[in-house]
Amino acid sequence: MAEQFVGKASEIKDGERRIVFVGEHEIGVFKEKGEYYAYSNFCLHQGGPACEGLTIAKVEERIMPDKTSRGLYFSDTELHFVCPWHGMEYDMKTGECVAAIGLATEIERGLREGRFDTLTPQAFQVLMAALCKTYAAQSEGGEGFMPLADRNSVSPTEIMTTTSALLKSANLAVFELGMWQSWTGR
Ligand code: FES
Repeated sequence: MAEQFVGKASEIKDGERRIVFVGEHEIGVFKEKGEYYAYSNFCLHQGGPACEGLTIAKVEERIMPDKTSRGLYFSDTELHFVCPWHGMEYDMKTGECVAAIGLATEIERGLREGRFDTLTPQAFQVLMAALCKTYAAQSEGGEGFMPLADRNSVSPTEIMTTTSALLKSANLAVFELGMWQSWTGR
């Protein structure tokens, strides 16, 4: 990847940030505790300037060994940056969208406890449509990543069941998928 001049290290103080253009992309560069972090200045929610809002300490819940809660507190070590449009939070060290991780954790907890109704069918459909659109847009935009982190995160049966239902709900047949793949080479 080509290098990009952001500024002299001596001119960027801890806690400051710079927004720079790299080609057509806006990138936010943060300096925190002597480390630099760079992320796309594009919020996953509605495309807001994700890197231009507040930075705040992560709010954590203190859980005791007997599973009782001692309330919420601000983390000493973990920091979030917050999109100024609607408050979506991102982890400063990883860039992960905190709301998405929280929702996924809640759904997984429900599954472990035998609850399959953490999301209503309506909420599930809205979420699935947003995920499909986001993945397609990022894929078309050249962000080449796989929709699953690894092959063990979901079973083959779960993939086939979901893929089959997706095709059916969009009124697509498997042969149409095959034709699209042969046309596009994907
Ligand atoms: S666009 Fe960033 S929170 Fe809505």
